[in-house]
Amino acid sequence: MHADVRERAAALRARIEDANYRYYVLDDPDLPDAEYDRLLRELQDLEAAHPELVTPDSPTQRVGVTPAGEFMPVEHAIPMLSLNNAFTEAEVAAFDRRVREALGREQDTIEYAVEPKFDGLAVSLVYQDGLFVRGATRGDGYTGEDVSANLRTIRAIPMRLAADRPPALLEVRGEVLMLKRDFERLNAEALARGDKTFVNPRNAAAGSLRQLDPRVTAQRRLSFYAYGIGRCEGAPMPDTHAGIMDWIESMHLPVCAQRATALGVAGLLDYFAWLGALRPGLPFDIDGAVYKVNRLADQHALGYVARAPRFAIAHKYPAQEALTVVEAIEAQVGRTGTLTPVARLRPVFVGGVTVTNATLHNQDEIDRKDVRVGDTVIVRRAGDVIPEVVRVLTERRGDPPPPRFDLLRQYPTCPECGAPVIRLEGEAAARCSNGLACPAQRKQALWHFASRRAMDIDGLGEKLIDQLIDRGLVATPADLYDPERVNVATLAGLDRMAEKSAENLLTAIAASRGRDLGRFLHALGIRHVGEQTAKDLARHFGSLDALMAADETALLQVPDVGPVVAGSIRAFFAEPHNRAVIEALRRAGAWRDGTPAAPGTGVLAGRTLVLTGTLPTLTRDQAKARIEAAGGKVAGSVSGKTDYVVAGAEAGSKLDKAIALGVTVLDEAALLNLLEQGDPSP
Ligand code: IVH
Repeated sequence: MHADVRERAAALRARIEDANYRYYVLDDPDLPDAEYDRLLRELQDLEAAHPELVTPDSPTQRVGVTPAGEFMPVEHAIPMLSLNNAFTEAEVAAFDRRVREALGREQDTIEYAVEPKFDGLAVSLVYQDGLFVRGATRGDGYTGEDVSANLRTIRAIPMRLAADRPPALLEVRGEVLMLKRDFERLNAEALARGDKTFVNPRNAAAGSLRQLDPRVTAQRRLSFYAYGIGRCEGAPMPDTHAGIMDWIESMHLPVCAQRATALGVAGLLDYFAWLGALRPGLPFDIDGAVYKVNRLADQHALGYVARAPRFAIAHKYPAQEALTVVEAIEAQVGRTGTLTPVARLRPVFVGGVTVTNATLHNQDEIDRKDVRVGDTVIVRRAGDVIPEVVRVLTERRGDPPPPRFDLLRQYPTCPECGAPVIRLEGEAAARCSNGLACPAQRKQALWHFASRRAMDIDGLGEKLIDQLIDRGLVATPADLYDPERVNVATLAGLDRMAEKSAENLLTAIAASRGRDLGRFLHALGIRHVGEQTAKDLARHFGSLDALMAADETALLQVPDVGPVVAGSIRAFFAEPHNRAVIEALRRAGAWRDGTPAAPGTGVLAGRTLVLTGTLPTLTRDQAKARIEAAGGKVAGSVSGKTDYVVAGAEAGSKLDKAIALGVTVLDEAALLNLLEQGDPSP
């Protein structure tokens, strides 16, 4: 065999594994898929023609072909232990105190390595002279199962360590998990085939790792993050946990970017809050943070109690899922008359709060999940989003089971106004047919009109709106500006209103006159016209009359306006009631025609600003609106492209980053100055 064939095979292997590393570990692919497939096929062909060329670390060996009959047991030379949990700040403080006392360093501040607690499955990977030789599950901590063939299919796991002189033996420990996006894709595919779906990424990862046929595992796209090492022989070890993580990262093992070090309890709690804020946006599920005493000598001195280390603890976020019972399903009437079914739940503590309601969205969703009154369900609350029903435990249904829930049969008429409820062809939503004559819709419309991102009428909250409508003082947004209806005397007669608060509200209503056209259009609450579309429409047409006169062809010229949005706008302005309200709002001077600064014009044109902290007088939305009106852009994070960072009280890491990058920092006064005078810099 020619030496160049051998060389070509080696080159292909190196190129493909490098592409895997860039794609799966660095998240920075450098090879188009088609090219990757071509190289892999070339390597497969070469190896088929010259079987003696196949090496155990060849990328062709990642997809095993022979299903295993069973998994062989693997004994862990060093047991894979579990972590003790902390749920409160006091428990974290007690952990830190125990560490200091046991080390005889009561007065010291301990340095911790801190990292996410991945919500997946623990595995151990063994590398001999840099070559992956075996991987196993945690099992009971002492004996696991050999799942090497399945682990090979995980492309983030290197088959050969990137090191000139790798340790003779290295056991890497970490977590196998499924990224949220891969989980969603897997479930979407299962649904399309009519198969059962997985409840969460953790279960999906567990099911996939324990497949006897590695070809199935390969299709599931699992990921892996290392969080430590077990045995290590034949190489000098770093003397801190953070050092170990950097070391194994240099060997191309995937370690997560959210790891850090923290000093003392204050540092731990800061990290917990920081990670918690990142959590909803992370690509994978986590259920807490793990704190480990950083110095290995200290870890050694602290040792273990029972089955957990004394040098580490898992600080858990409150459980996000819980079991409870659906006591009723009721309908809520929204701004556009949509009836949203809401499950009334037996109160249950989830994610740090007591949950009593979960949205069911619409009839399609009820059908899909088959939620019935009396069912035992899993509810989930993630971040600030509305709690939802994840799944029904149908096996807990009584005999006979409760009847299927049908929103239209339950609510033939609107629970708020008694008008018939309709479900339009092709629409998931059931809707009250009464439009703005329905008080519930009136309230919602008024609430939306006054809301911060619309007309921004400070102090006009939900309770007040209920009273204004229930007492017949106000029926439409225009009535707010009618001094016959809304004045100090009428307002002061409402619950929880005194003369002073009535005056304040009147001032806020007066201040809302003359809002720019974009805000006003958003405030009208036209279906399918959100904040951005409203701005685009204002910019395009420049005046309300021009918009009202626009036919479909003219509307379709506006960015992102398609036939559905155009139809909705035309229908809104065709409605005589809406036209009458708009005329009354015109007399009140509620809006000001004219285009807000188009991108590319205005004193801040082309500038990117980032806001952080609390400004003394402007709210964040107000500051954003002022900047955008001047043609500037407001970005969420600081980068090399940021022109200014506007910092207020308690500014956080964005300010640190601005200083580190040398970005100009402004306070509110300097911002206002800039808006007034323009930007002097080129
Ligand atoms: S260290 C001696 N670090 O938590 C314990 N574990 O309760 C060594 N886990 O089985 C574990 N993220 O599956 C460690 N950053 C992390 C972790 C982590 C998740 C899991 C792991 C382990 C369990 C322990």
